[in-house]
Amino acid sequence: VRVFDHHTEEFARDWREIYTDLRRDCPVAHSDRHGGFYVLTRYADVKAALHDPRTFSCARAFDQLPGVKGGVTVPRNPFRLGMMEMDPPEATGYRRVLAPLFSAKAVREYLPRMTEIVAWSVDRVIESGRIDFVDDLANPVPALITLDYLGLPLENWADYARVLHRAVYREAGSARDLELLLADLTAAIKARRAAGPGGGDFVDTLLNADINGEPLSDEMVVEMVFTVLNGGIDTSTALIAHMFLHLEEHPDDRAALIADPSRIPGAVDEMVRHVTPGPGLARTVLKPVEIAGTRLEPGDRVLLAFGSANTDDEMFPDANRVDIGRENAAKHLSFGSGIHRCLGASLAPAEMTVLLEQVLARMPDYRIDVDAVRAYPKIPLVNGFIAVPATFTPGEPQLSGFASELPVSRSS
Ligand code: HEM
Repeated sequence: VRVFDHHTEEFARDWREIYTDLRRDCPVAHSDRHGGFYVLTRYADVKAALHDPRTFSCARAFDQLPGVKGGVTVPRNPFRLGMMEMDPPEATGYRRVLAPLFSAKAVREYLPRMTEIVAWSVDRVIESGRIDFVDDLANPVPALITLDYLGLPLENWADYARVLHRAVYREAGSARDLELLLADLTAAIKARRAAGPGGGDFVDTLLNADINGEPLSDEMVVEMVFTVLNGGIDTSTALIAHMFLHLEEHPDDRAALIADPSRIPGAVDEMVRHVTPGPGLARTVLKPVEIAGTRLEPGDRVLLAFGSANTDDEMFPDANRVDIGRENAAKHLSFGSGIHRCLGASLAPAEMTVLLEQVLARMPDYRIDVDAVRAYPKIPLVNGFIAVPATFTPGEPQLSGFASELPVSRSS
């Protein structure tokens, strides 16, 4: 019997197989690692837990359960992850204020700017005929778009992208870099506070928000912004790298999307499902509950294995295969579900769609050097890549004369 541990290289290599075995033999497994936790692997059980926040809490500590370390990661993250680690009514207070900024309509209105940022990123490599999908697209595009969308200055986008990416796969020195990033962010938020209200973007909204009757401190705004950067950027980076790799390994899918770009949004949903950029997040049990014959008690920690739910054949037949026309692909749990469902769940797929459209139109013949591809050695929080180099037939830039100017913020 294997001991389940999502922090191992074995998990990074064999997670599909490990989850297939668990779903079949032991859908509510227990692991003694990281202080002990359960792992829910079936789609129906993961989804039910996400929709029962009174039983499955996101909070980090509990008056009624002294000593229990909660939060949405196993083991608990060193610092709180903003609203992701709050329960109602706090969590719902934030949602009420922030959800309109991330609506499908708001994302649609942002599309021209998003397209410009993607075009700029492609322009930077198009004449060379060489690209590393991680360093040149997967990393810059989500960093630029997320910073821009939130209303933060873009000058330091490359530092942000690099630091967040390295922190996720825990390269040496990454913790110190994160502190520098946090200091930079704090300075940017203080500057926005001093400049006064305006713009209506994410930062502005938070600086002027009443959450359940309370204004937010600068520290709280920094925590919220950092959570979004941390949660939104490297997950998108991972997904982008996987998408281009998939289309390298499946030329039939690449040809189908080039022939009919209207299929791209559906293909994106399917790849979000199949990849599951964030393989799972945790909850803490507050009330006794029985799942598939196993009784969980208050204080028990539970990992909700999104990657397993998304590859449950009961829900998605032949689930470990990519089917770019799969009808129910969008029912994946890669963005969670229920009251904490990802706020970027419209923004991220739109970004992936624009990116695929541009790459498939402008470098349709790219060939990845598969021997030089390097994946994260461990994937406890994000299943991503370090290097995905490729070559293609060079092309012309689209934004001529504009390329060196783009990274300034919308608000400036
Ligand atoms: C492919 C990319 C992404 C993936 C896979 C992803 C995944 C997730 C997941 C699974 C959750 C739910 C957490 C839970 O239930 O405990 C979440 C929450 C969240 N995501 Fe994303 N995310 C992505 C991109 C983004 C982007 C681009 C943004 C914003 C710019 C964003 C902002 C947030 C926020 C603010 C929350 C917290 C929501 C809450 O607690 O109410 N995410 N994300």
